[in-house]
Amino acid sequence: MTSSATGHGRAELDPEAVVASAERRVATVDTVADLDDVRAELLGKRSALAGARQALATLDPGARPEAGRRLNDAQRRIEELVAARRRELESSERAARLHAERLDLTEVVAPPVSGRLHLVERTRDELEDVFTGMGFVVAEGPEAETDWYNFEALHMPPAHPARGMWDTLYLELGEPETVLLRTHTSPVQIRLMQSQGPPIYAVMPGKCFRRDTPDARHIPTFHQVEGLVVDHGISFADLAGTIETFTSAYFGSDIHARLRPSYFPFTEPSAEFEITCTICKGSGCRTCSQTGWVELGGCGMVDPAVFSAVGLDPEEWTGFAFGFGIDRCAQMRHEIPDMRVLLENDVRILRQI
Ligand code: PHE
Repeated sequence: MTSSATGHGRAELDPEAVVASAERRVATVDTVADLDDVRAELLGKRSALAGARQALATLDPGARPEAGRRLNDAQRRIEELVAARRRELESSERAARLHAERLDLTEVVAPPVSGRLHLVERTRDELEDVFTGMGFVVAEGPEAETDWYNFEALHMPPAHPARGMWDTLYLELGEPETVLLRTHTSPVQIRLMQSQGPPIYAVMPGKCFRRDTPDARHIPTFHQVEGLVVDHGISFADLAGTIETFTSAYFGSDIHARLRPSYFPFTEPSAEFEITCTICKGSGCRTCSQTGWVELGGCGMVDPAVFSAVGLDPEEWTGFAFGFGIDRCAQMRHEIPDMRVLLENDVRILRQI
């Protein structure tokens, strides 16, 4: 048997050189997909190695085992090179993928912006807390009222001069000047006495409206808390004690209340109540016009005529009522120079208060 020159040449391919060139080739590959192509190129049917294996048949039979063993050895080493490179590429591709897909849960881009309650709402909540802590319940009533609830039942018949104490905004509903935006929370007293009998221990917070020109201490839409107690044997001392207790609970123990004689058609006797000026703590400053006291609201013993208007026997029942501004409380406690900011919705200010 003669061996062809080509066949002989192939069989004599130097396996060491094939492995060395495969090693360089494999090292240049940098994706798993390319590695698959290179593997086919190095070990597939058309590879130099496969050609050399076919050419074994052309060798002298005595030389074949040795040549075959060297080819097998070369093949195994190339397989190993490919497998090692595959492990490397797979692990770096996996690392790259994990890096690209990472979600950094500790990364805070910007602090979340959340809204919060307006200062007047917070003040109302705190005042409700103070009064519920003293055993009062919270009641509410409508903002649009009839003349009867806002004035007449409160002992102010039509054309009563005391109506002038409240600059009223009327609604164009029904007979002229019969429906209005409530000027105070006192009509809720009437509704409460009508809807439930004594004993009553209630506070009634809500929005009120007056035809006022806004200034540093007055806004036309404001908030009041009305208080009403109706029971047997209620005295003026109960009223004074309630106001003093609420004042120091809300403003702090260094702030006190005092009552000064006043007039309201629906209470007799009537008083206005003042608290120690929170700015100067009573020593006198511009806010309190050097008096050391700031007016907060009105109060008094429920007038017998009011009990009669709602069908309660004035001989049997006694009670007191008070009403004061929530906005004024917020202004005093947070030392807000101009009350108008409470209506303006300027976020630069709302963020501060
Ligand atoms: N309603 C009165 C006002 O708005 C305040 C007040 C309430 C006075 C209860 C006495 C009793 O001015």
